[in-house]
Amino acid sequence: MNLLYNHLSVNQDGHLAIGGMDTVDLAKQYGTPAYIMDEDAIRAMMRTYLDAAHTHFGADALPLYASKALCFTGIYRIAAEEGMGVDCVSGGELYTAKRAGFPAERIYFHGNNKTERDICDAMDMGVGTFVVDNTDELLSVESHAAARGITQRILLRITPGIDPHTHKAIVTGSVDSKFGSAIETGQAMEIVKLALAQPHIHLSGFHCHIGSQIFDTHPFSEAADIMVRFIASVKSECGMDVEELNLGGGLGVPYTEYDRPVDYAAAIKDMAAIVHGYCDTHGVKMPKVILEPGRSLVAAAGITLYTVGSVKEIPGFRTYVSVDGGMPDNPRYALYQSTYTALIANRPDAPRNCRVTVAGRCCESGDLIGEDMPLQEARRGDILAVLTTGAYNYAMASHYNRLPNPPVILVKDGAAKVAVKRESYEDLVRNDIL
Ligand code: LLP
Repeated sequence: MNLLYNHLSVNQDGHLAIGGMDTVDLAKQYGTPAYIMDEDAIRAMMRTYLDAAHTHFGADALPLYASKALCFTGIYRIAAEEGMGVDCVSGGELYTAKRAGFPAERIYFHGNNKTERDICDAMDMGVGTFVVDNTDELLSVESHAAARGITQRILLRITPGIDPHTHKAIVTGSVDSKFGSAIETGQAMEIVKLALAQPHIHLSGFHCHIGSQIFDTHPFSEAADIMVRFIASVKSECGMDVEELNLGGGLGVPYTEYDRPVDYAAAIKDMAAIVHGYCDTHGVKMPKVILEPGRSLVAAAGITLYTVGSVKEIPGFRTYVSVDGGMPDNPRYALYQSTYTALIANRPDAPRNCRVTVAGRCCESGDLIGEDMPLQEARRGDILAVLTTGAYNYAMASHYNRLPNPPVILVKDGAAKVAVKRESYEDLVRNDIL
């Protein structure tokens, strides 16, 4: 069958392997459900972004890992070793990055509603750049910077007003958005002027992020055009030379054989040609360019292993294959009707000639991993693998129905190590006081 990615294979025992390691053995050793990640696949994607960004945007270009996609201390260590920056979006992500020893000057602190505590914590740890969302936040950053006697470097989040044709829950760049200041309404220029007037703020440039799981590069070029025009108008209205332009993340990944693979290096090359071209056209000096991918760095590297429990055929309706996880470890079908590829890991080469609904174990009908999924005939005790779960799965996990979160296991060089251990029942009651 089509396993979508090169780090997945079928081994001589006829089992699914990830990074050369037998998934049935991994399931035995670490239990299920479990997230398994191929570390080399993550590192290879980080290198693809770094190489392409340096080659096409210049040596000062910096790709950031948008750590909301998958957050635990080990991933910040990997990102640091590879020379990436990171995007953190909360006090919790900042704390995790700090615990991992991630260099604070390479952190970009995002979020549309940073609390006073977030702002103080981030300044205390020396976060390099705040991506300021709005006027209230700008004034708060100014007052905390003043109190510390420092000058805080910031980017302003700008909404370019673009619809990238992805799921509406993950569109972020349109005018009616909780994120950023829109160019169209004049608010973007107003906040630029306000930022330039603050004595403890150094406005370095602008950020935009148009959405996620986008395959077409056209919306990115459109955003780049709008942003470069904006940079030109800021230069003529305010005399400001923009140093940095952050173009956000958002490139998609294939979840099934019907999604087309993305050539990330080629996409970055195209984007660079467009930004260079627009800078020439609008007479703008090429700024340092920041990219901010999350999903495309980690999604493909991950799979989730489950054990099949019940298989229930309802004649005339459908077959439910229930597994020992569900929406608490992967809420994406429930939230976005996301499609996934599933297979029986102990016989991946058997024909996937059944159409099933893969259901979780929660007391909720919507607790599904997918419907109408092609799958081998499933039996109780089989190991079921869901592919491409490295992004926005562990990061979005909940404890619904008091289910403990699965572990994150990293495989590399023929060995597996626990990056995040499985939660115990004791962990679940740890903070219950009464
Ligand atoms: N930068 C900013 C400011 C973002 O908001 C995001 C994602 C990224 C970068 C990274 O985007 P990516 O390269 O991962 O597409 N939970 C949803 C996705 C939400 C994306 C939120 N922002 C999902 O599971 O599809």
